[in-house]
Amino acid sequence: MRLIGYARRLLSMPPHQAARLAAAYAGRAAVRVVRRGRAMGGHSFGPLREGAAPACVGGAAPIELLRFYVDPAWQGRGVAQSLMDAVVAEATTRGAKTVWLGVWERNPRAIAFYAKSGFRDAGSQPFVLGTDRQTDRIMVRAI
Ligand SMILES: CC(C)(COP(=O)(O)OP(=O)(O)OC[C@H]1O[C@@H](n2cnc3c(N)ncnc32)[C@H](O)[C@@H]1OP(=O)(O)O)[C@@H](O)C(=O)NCCC(=O)NCCS
Repeated sequence: MRLIGYARRLLSMPPHQAARLAAAYAGRAAVRVVRRGRAMGGHSFGPLREGAAPACVGGAAPIELLRFYVDPAWQGRGVAQSLMDAVVAEATTRGAKTVWLGVWERNPRAIAFYAKSGFRDAGSQPFVLGTDRQTDRIMVRAI
């Protein structure tokens, strides 16, 4: 399994917009999962961002996982786990010891997936989308 490319422009977008952009880039822009030489997961991605972490993250050498997204056609088929394994490997290569993320508190499927992948709930932070103020759960995993 290996990762191909990162798209900085995807980072600030809601998932559906990012997916559209990733589709427009015909797979060149997104992090892709390749297993035994075959591309899997369509337009799925899980970019990492270095920078300051919220205080509740706490762990050593943190890195943020942003906009983890599995192409709808590939959800529930194990691609999310492969992509997460690849993301954690990439984070380790970059010297991180902690991966953290913000997930909308009303996204039970994503929260269930992250919990299954070893992330624990560490706190919350506001997320402003236009005029809408939402709450993200902050989840953390030591690697
Ligand atoms: C979040 C995401 C990456 C998870 O990938 P996935 O392939 O759906 O993950 P899985 O199916 O392996 O795991 C999801 C878990 O949630 C559970 N689940 C499925 N639908 C659910 C629902 N509507 N409510 C609550 N839990 C649900 C599943 O049962 C599964 O747990 P299990 O394996 O113990 O049964 C994927 O759904 C996705 O890309 N969603 C859209 C983008 C998104 O919301 N990203 C998160 C941004 S922070």
